[in-house]
Amino acid sequence: MKKKNFPLSEVYRLLEPGPVVLLTTIRAGRANVIPMSWHLMMEFTPPLVGCVVSNGNYSFASLKKSRECVINIPTVELAKTVVACGNTSGQSVDKFKKFGLTPVVAACVKAPLIAECYASLECKVVDMKLVTKYNFFVLEVVQAWIDPTQNKPRTIHHQGEGEFMLPGRIFRLRSPKTALGGKL
Ligand SMILES: Cc1cc2nc3c(=O)[nH]c(=O)nc-3n(C[C@H](O)[C@H](O)[C@H](O)COP(=O)(O)O)c2cc1C
Repeated sequence: MKKKNFPLSEVYRLLEPGPVVLLTTIRAGRANVIPMSWHLMMEFTPPLVGCVVSNGNYSFASLKKSRECVINIPTVELAKTVVACGNTSGQSVDKFKKFGLTPVVAACVKAPLIAECYASLECKVVDMKLVTKYNFFVLEVVQAWIDPTQNKPRTIHHQGEGEFMLPGRIFRLRSPKTALGGKL
């Protein structure tokens, strides 16, 4: 499946509902991948994303050193793979090989996109002031890709303790006034 270019100004729409993502990094020429649910949008354009990558994870040093990564957004079809990637460490396992994920060369960073994910955001680390204290990295999305064939991607949302939620009904509200008066 070939992804098409996605506007940077729309990137917030992919992340705001907080789906579990697969973060890829690269270290000594080998790519690694972890599920991550502790992330948030911080700015529309350029899109800034804050995230916590624990310093106990192999990915932490990779991200700190390379200052690059890709945020890949999986759908429910990949749920078991997502959990499997969270239960193993890149220190001892090549997760791409072990879990059958396909790396795709990125345009602006060395870490790969994941072909099986419906969207991929190439990111550069732009602020590490809170890394020592909180393991908190600020990323700028420099290139975004999306699969144009998926118009209602079923992303997964972590509830903790191995429990996940699927997105529910989509509704549209024109203004805050309508929101107060309208029935949901
Ligand atoms: C659903 C889910 C969400 C997770 N979210 C995060 C996260 O936001 N930050 C983090 O550091 N680890 C998170 N983890 C844990 C890492 O993915 C896990 O520790 C992983 O095995 C680290 O791999 P590594 O040693 O190859 O870096 C999450 C795991 C799961 C299953």
